[in-house]
Amino acid sequence: MSIKMHELDQKVEEAIEAFTFRFRADKRDRNARSAVNEIDEHQIEQLKHRGIPNKGRAIQDIVNELVDDIFAYGVRTDHPRFFGFIPGPASRLSWLGDIMTSAYNIHAGSWANGPAASCIEQELIHWLCQQAGYGDSSGGLFVSGGSMANMTALIAARDKVLDERTLHLGVAYVSDQSHSSVMKGLRIIGIPSHRIRTVATDTSFRMDSLLLRTAIEQDLAAGLIPFAVIATAGTTNTGSIDPLRQIAAICQEYGIWMHVDGAYGASVMLSLKYRHLLDGIGQADSISWDGHKWLFQTYGCAMVLVKDKMDLIRSFHVRPEYLKDLESDHSHANAMDLGVELTRPARGLRLWLTLQGLGSLGMSEAIEHGFQLAAWAEDELRKKKYWEIVSPAQLAIVNFRYAPADLSEDERHELNQRISKSMIENGYAGVFTTELHGKKVLRICAIHPETTESDVRNTVRILNQYALEFHDAVKR
Ligand SMILES: Cc1ncc(COP(=O)(O)O)c(C=O)c1O
Repeated sequence: MSIKMHELDQKVEEAIEAFTFRFRADKRDRNARSAVNEIDEHQIEQLKHRGIPNKGRAIQDIVNELVDDIFAYGVRTDHPRFFGFIPGPASRLSWLGDIMTSAYNIHAGSWANGPAASCIEQELIHWLCQQAGYGDSSGGLFVSGGSMANMTALIAARDKVLDERTLHLGVAYVSDQSHSSVMKGLRIIGIPSHRIRTVATDTSFRMDSLLLRTAIEQDLAAGLIPFAVIATAGTTNTGSIDPLRQIAAICQEYGIWMHVDGAYGASVMLSLKYRHLLDGIGQADSISWDGHKWLFQTYGCAMVLVKDKMDLIRSFHVRPEYLKDLESDHSHANAMDLGVELTRPARGLRLWLTLQGLGSLGMSEAIEHGFQLAAWAEDELRKKKYWEIVSPAQLAIVNFRYAPADLSEDERHELNQRISKSMIENGYAGVFTTELHGKKVLRICAIHPETTESDVRNTVRILNQYALEFHDAVKR
């Protein structure tokens, strides 16, 4: 068996070289290709029937198949003109860090297993905490994404404020713009929907803090226990930032854990020019922050930061007999004592490599480019007739719709949906729709450091052409 593995290893090494060559070419040609490459049912059927062979196949053939038949399809979230959802413009630095981390495959669940990797991850967490304004007792962990970061923080919140006797009374507060992962996480940790209050947002899609206070007081009067408020720094729809200082003051007054979902927007803390927008974030008890969004990391890299590291240790430290040798003092906290996972890769190393390569100033500029891109998109829209800016450019996101006066709301809805669909089919850019306070709108989220001014202006021009083309067709 080991001889067979050895033969395979040699072939794998050859395949790595061939793959690297193909990947480089793929990246070089990327801008000329579609932002979305759809797959048809026939191709899906073929994939389904591929099965697992009894005897191993030639590695090079398998590698080619992966590149041509699998990786080639879907939305290319790292394409410079992919403006949908939150794009994933992974940098090559992150890619390198990711490959190296996988290649060495260090067990980063405990300090004893991977001391140097754990040290680098913790030092980077420390630096990120400092950016948030957290002090020396803070800490955190690299996790797989914003959903996991949110849930990890909410577990800590639950365990700090509630116990087994009071769990059934705990209430959490979100806004109508909170990300679905927050509600999902709350339900997973034992907070059912009827104890999650959705606070309305104002005209700028920010949580209304007066309504928050009212909701908390009503719950207290009913004998319930408000335990967590989840504010958002950079909502997915509009990039809005909830009034963090006001929410923090309310949380302090009532002894409620404040969590900030900064999966998207926390990266603005690294922009010298715009970090002031997140004023007050350091007052939160915990923060979620995705590396694989606006820090240009490959997927599977996010952070949960807490003001007091002991809040994570309280919830996650366990020591069964076979792990007793891995005990360490809390200054060298084991990653496994700070979150859900035991065995885990050192997810933070790719971000460390990226920051080493770019420097904090390079990162700052790369983030700021997104603000400029969305501003250019808005500027181009304002030059054209009948485009309504539903939410102006903020944190690299702008929401808008084609809304001429002669169309009804239903017709506008249909027209904007058709515009998006045609743009996606065309493949020039990925522009999707969302809904804001009842309106169907188009949305551009532009955070790719390689996107140019003409990329965004041309995208708007093409959207406008579709609007003119379909206008008469939707009018009833
Ligand atoms: C504000 C916000 N929170 C949480 C998430 C979930 O993050 P992830 O997809 O990394 O789990 C997202 C994803 O878009 C988000 O925009």
